[in-house]
Amino acid sequence: MGQAVIFLGPPGAGKGTQASRLAEELGFKKLSTGDILRDHVARGTPLGERVRPIMERGDLVPDDLILELIREELAERVIFDGFPRTLAQAEALDRLLAETGTRLLGVVLVEVPEEELVRRILKRAELEGRSDDNEETVRRRLEVYREKTEPLVGYYEARGVLKRVDGLGTPDEVYARIRAALGI
Ligand code: AP5
Repeated sequence: MGQAVIFLGPPGAGKGTQASRLAEELGFKKLSTGDILRDHVARGTPLGERVRPIMERGDLVPDDLILELIREELAERVIFDGFPRTLAQAEALDRLLAETGTRLLGVVLVEVPEEELVRRILKRAELEGRSDDNEETVRRRLEVYREKTEPLVGYYEARGVLKRVDGLGTPDEVYARIRAALGI
């Protein structure tokens, strides 16, 4: 039987950082829709050209494109980073997990106050120059998170699979909380 973990949380919460470590230590595949899309943009594929302006504005890429990527990349033991991000994506994922007999081990919600999110992202802009890491786009990404993605907190809470984790502190401290919350 397959196993899956979902990382949920606002931009800059540390989902990618923590999902990478958990995937490495558990031997799961990390499936980050943001990383896959950025790779398409960097290679200038037709998909990359289509999503580039959407990502630069801080808006969400259409659900059908995302779901196609997920179907292509799904693995037996998988950690989703930055997916699902809309109710339609969450419902499609539920169907996919049921079809493939994959058990959802938990949905980790990484919680970090807004000032700290903005601080982390603007610091990364200085270091890495990610094209959506500027003040204007960060505000838009946070707005989109609240409007489109935050409803998933209630969706997963109602299913009894939500694990709230304080994302403040060192990455090691946050990681220990995540392992404890998941009980793995
Ligand atoms: P995506 O790549 O998913 O970006 P995001 O959700 O905005 O998240 P970030 O990567 O900014 O943050 P994170 O929570 O992963 O934190 P990280 O570990 O990097 O999506 C980008 C775009 O792609 C979207 O806007 C959308 O357009 C599109 N997209 C992607 N998925 C989609 C989907 N499913 N549907 C539709 N569109 C989609 O950490 C952030 C920074 O903080 C790093 O520099 C890190 O080193 C640092 N940091 C981490 N932990 C700590 C800590 N504990 N203390 C201090 N600093 C820390």
